[in-house]
Amino acid sequence: MRPKRPPAISRSLSESLRAGDGEDVLVTGGAGYIGSHTVLQLLLAGSRPSSWTTSRTPPRSLSREWPSLPGIDIRDKEALEKVFASTTFDAVIHFAGLKAVGESVHKPLLYYNNNIIGTINLLEVMSAHGCKKLVFSSSATVYGWPKEVPCTEEFDLSATNPYGRTKLFIEEICRDIHISDPDWSIILLRYFNPVGAHPSGHIGEDPRGFPNNLMPFVQQVAVGRRPALTVFGNDYSTNDGTGVRDYIHVVDLSDGHISALQKLFDGSEIGCEVYNLGTGKGTSVLEMVAAFEKASGKEIPLVIAGRRPGDAEIVYASTAKAEKELHWKAKYGIEEMCRDQWNWASMNPWGYGCPDPAD
Ligand code: WQD
Repeated sequence: MRPKRPPAISRSLSESLRAGDGEDVLVTGGAGYIGSHTVLQLLLAGSRPSSWTTSRTPPRSLSREWPSLPGIDIRDKEALEKVFASTTFDAVIHFAGLKAVGESVHKPLLYYNNNIIGTINLLEVMSAHGCKKLVFSSSATVYGWPKEVPCTEEFDLSATNPYGRTKLFIEEICRDIHISDPDWSIILLRYFNPVGAHPSGHIGEDPRGFPNNLMPFVQQVAVGRRPALTVFGNDYSTNDGTGVRDYIHVVDLSDGHISALQKLFDGSEIGCEVYNLGTGKGTSVLEMVAAFEKASGKEIPLVIAGRRPGDAEIVYASTAKAEKELHWKAKYGIEEMCRDQWNWASMNPWGYGCPDPAD
């Protein structure tokens, strides 16, 4: 049975564009999974995002009104200069970066070059143009395998792979920049596990190639693109033996960026602050699969395998700091995440592309 079609986008994008009374915000990586959802929320909140993509065209269903700049590689400093020469940006939300944990282990220099050199280029150009408000897309991966849960922002940091180390290094670069120049206002957002899709079903997660993460893989099994889900380990010290994570609806995550932007513009001396964006609840692999089967009406065949190297056992967030200082709290639970993920997948079984013979 198809899930009840959730409400369409409540406010037309053209209305929001006309609103135009918000800030001019550059969103790097703005057509990616979290970036595209954040651009949409920015538009609906009345900001003027210039979304800038390096990897792909804007979501086809929204491209008519999508405020997109031409695809630019953040390692191309000259192109960055041209973007900032063309528009005075009030702030930057920086998503652009490579994010496949497994790939980063095999290609560390690609990740250090793209994520770190690219970010340094961006920060240098921002500084040269007097744009010193930044929201950076960090990750809970900087907690490594936490000794206890929930994770608070004060926990010791460690990275277990080059991707995670790029996040760690960029956080430190941001802290150093603020110390050297207090005019910088920087918010670092540590995402836990983003899943789901905008309830309209127009945008969602569409990983290129083999899906590394759990829910995009489950969605591809559900639409018949993959035969079964491999469960990496069922011998952890958890209720059902499978790994536990803090899954957060991508719309909640996007709203966290709006709250962070508001903090940057509310006049408070923010400095360089870090916030967890999660739900504060842990859910196991098998619990996520069961919730998705319920939402989709599809059976997800399983193959139980050994643990995946580098995987932590249990990770979930303390969100007290974001609730207190950003006045942000996740609204959606696992049921809505799976409902909206299935709505997107069932409407777009091949994501933004078309059947890939190699798949
Ligand atoms: C979740 C659970 C797996 C796939 C990573 C990044 C993190 C963030 C989210 C960007 C684990 C299990 C997974 C599969 C499985 N990304 N699993 N079969 O590893 O918690 O976090 O993605 O910010 O930075 O590190 O997410 O979805 O890969 O795994 O059993 O085919 O699902 O073992 O327990 P992870 P994940």
